[in-house]
Formats: sequence, structure tokens, C-alpha cells
Amino acid sequence: MLELKKDFPVLTSNPNLVYLDSAASALRPQAVVDAMNDYYARYGVNVNRGIYDLSDYATIMYEKTREKVAEFLQAEIEEIIFTSGTTDGLNTLSRILEQKINPGDNIVVTRMEHHANLIPWQQLAKRKQAELRFIEITSNYELDLESTKKVIDERTKIVSVTAASNVLGTITPINEFTVLAHSVGALVIVDAAQLIPHGPINVKDIDCDFLVFSGHKLYGPTGVGVLYGKKKLLEELEPVAFGGDMISRVSYESASWAELPHKFEPGTPPIAEVIGLGTALDYLRQIGWNNIQAHEQELVNYVLEKLPEVATIIGPANQVTRTATFSFIIPNTHPHDIGDILNRDQIAVRVGHHCAMPLIQHLGLVGTTRAAFGIYNSTDDVDALIEGIKKVKKILLNEYL
Ligand code: ALA
Repeated sequence: MLELKKDFPVLTSNPNLVYLDSAASALRPQAVVDAMNDYYARYGVNVNRGIYDLSDYATIMYEKTREKVAEFLQAEIEEIIFTSGTTDGLNTLSRILEQKINPGDNIVVTRMEHHANLIPWQQLAKRKQAELRFIEITSNYELDLESTKKVIDERTKIVSVTAASNVLGTITPINEFTVLAHSVGALVIVDAAQLIPHGPINVKDIDCDFLVFSGHKLYGPTGVGVLYGKKKLLEELEPVAFGGDMISRVSYESASWAELPHKFEPGTPPIAEVIGLGTALDYLRQIGWNNIQAHEQELVNYVLEKLPEVATIIGPANQVTRTATFSFIIPNTHPHDIGDILNRDQIAVRVGHHCAMPLIQHLGLVGTTRAAFGIYNSTDDVDALIEGIKKVKKILLNEYL
């Protein structure tokens, strides 16, 4: 197994912390913190504007991350737009694609979306008198492909799906959606926030039209994200956010737009964060994605063996179709009480509806406790969780396991 705790300053500063909340935010290695400090300390000036050396250098460092992200996604450099995160990317898409929606059209999402990939489409559907449709979930917490065939039709304009659920850990079959959606001329958007820490995604292979993710799920900084879009589409779409840097010419009466990718990046971008994201990608590449995936698989298998002994997993029991994010419940207990008792032993989990309130209600739950494992976790952390749950059951249910 990988042994990476020493690289993560939050873990070395809190040696007893059992951090199981990487699906909310993954911790950053020291290298990322150093790269951001280095920007602020040595060359912390604006990008794309200066004629002086320092500004050129900052621009080069900023643009290097774009090259690294393009390589990571197998995309063209102009197809990579920096955003402030997944939520920003999806909100932007819902506005730039508004022009493509007419009354009576439909937009398809799944029952397992995070609010960020639900509300922008719900609101767009309301604005344009369009219908919002849902791909259903099977009893194994996977997506029901039969229901997909029923909801996608010739009036479907957008299919926006999560690549991996932040609640259930389910990995969804994106390629199947792409083929179906494209057969009726719909656009496919992938919310990759929860899949991106598990390895590179080849956007050409999955043939999605757009894909979004956040830096902070990928061991990078908060406040930065990526919106990938097919060049042809980005070229024909109109921007919805305006200001400096995204223009070619401006008069008091009108304006024309800069070339891609700048057309969709108005204002001063999150420079330090973009540079930090590039360093996170370097760090992960040095560890090796094969090693990261093998480590995660070992953790997943171990959790699937141990957790059912003490709790009920709400998510796939199959290691092939899941990430290392595990929601669970303990009958007759409340997730907030579970989280509170685990916290006494410095076991950090997330509890509640996880920004997916409709999904939790759809499953007939009040919430879940979620343990989300990252590259720095070990089987010792799984053991700590299991012991913590036994303690919870002893305190709340008087059970001695
Ligand atoms: N989307 C993040 C989570 O699932 C915040 O916790």
C-alpha cells in the first residue's frame, strides 16, 4: 500500500486525525502549498496583461497547468477553461446552453445528482418551460439503463450526469449515456467531481461534449476548477460572463470576444490556485496512477469486507462499479450522533444529505454517515472506523460487539 501521510501537512500537524472526508475536500500535499506560496512570495503578479518579465513568468506558470490538464484529459489546450469549481462550471454551462433549449424540450439528469448538477438544470427547465427528466436507480444503487432509454428521446437537448456519486460511491456508465444521447442529437455533460481523484479521464474516448471538476477533490486547492468543452462547441457558444481579458475589441457600443480559452475566462483568474492544481497533477503523476488505483482498490475491498459487519452500506457492494466513498447507516441511530461520537476519536466523516437532498429522500433516509477514503488512508484507518462504529453502537444502542 502507498504510505503518503508524511506528504500531507494537515495529517502531520494532526497525527491522530483519521481523515475520512476526502469526497468533500481532499487534503493537499506540501508540494501544492509550496507552489502557491512560491507564487505569492516570488512572482505574485497578474497574468495575460503585463509586458514585464515577472508577468510573463506568471503567465507561463499559469498556462503550464492548462497544458497539464489538457494532457490529463487527452483534450486540446484551448478546450480547457478554468473556473472556480464544479458548481461554477455547471452553472456556466446551464447559462451558455440556454440558447439551445426551447419550450417542450427536455433535460435529463439522474436521481443521484449532487445539488450542483441538479438545481442549475431545474432552474433552466423552469425558465424555458422545458421538462427535467430523471434516470432511475436500481436496487444495487446503480443507474438503470432501461430507464435511460425511456427518458432520452428526440426532444432531449442535454444529458448531464455524474460520473461517480458523492453519496453512493457509484461509478456510472458514461459511455452508454453518450451513445444514447448523441443518437438523438443531445449534448452530454459529465460531472466528474468525484471520479477525477481516481485517475485520468479520456474525454475523447467517452466522447462527452463537456466535463467539469474541482481542484480540491484532486488534492489541489479550493477555488479552482476545470470546464472542458469540445472546441467546436465552445467556438460557437456565446459567453455569459463579461469583463477584462475575454475580449478582442471593445467600444462604448459593442464588444467582440477573445479566442478560446480566454473567451470564457473573464477577469483576474485564481492564479495561485491554478498553479497549485498543476503541482497536484505533477504530484499524482509521480506517485503513478496505477499505484493510486491499486491502493484504492485494496481499500475498497477491505471496507467491503469489514463495514457490513457493523453497518449497512448504502451503495454498490461491487468493487468494480464504486469509488472509495462509502455511505452507511446504522438502524435506530441518527447520522449526526454517529458523526459526533466518531469525532471524539478524531475520526472525521461527513453526515447528513451530502448536498443531495432529493436522493436521500428518494431512498427514504434521513441522511447517511459517509466515510470517503483518499490516497493517504490505510487499512489502519478502516480499522479505526470499524472500532469507532462499535463504540457508537455501544453508546447509542447498548450493543457490545
Ligand atoms: N460535494 C462535496 C461533498 O460531497 C462537498 O461532500
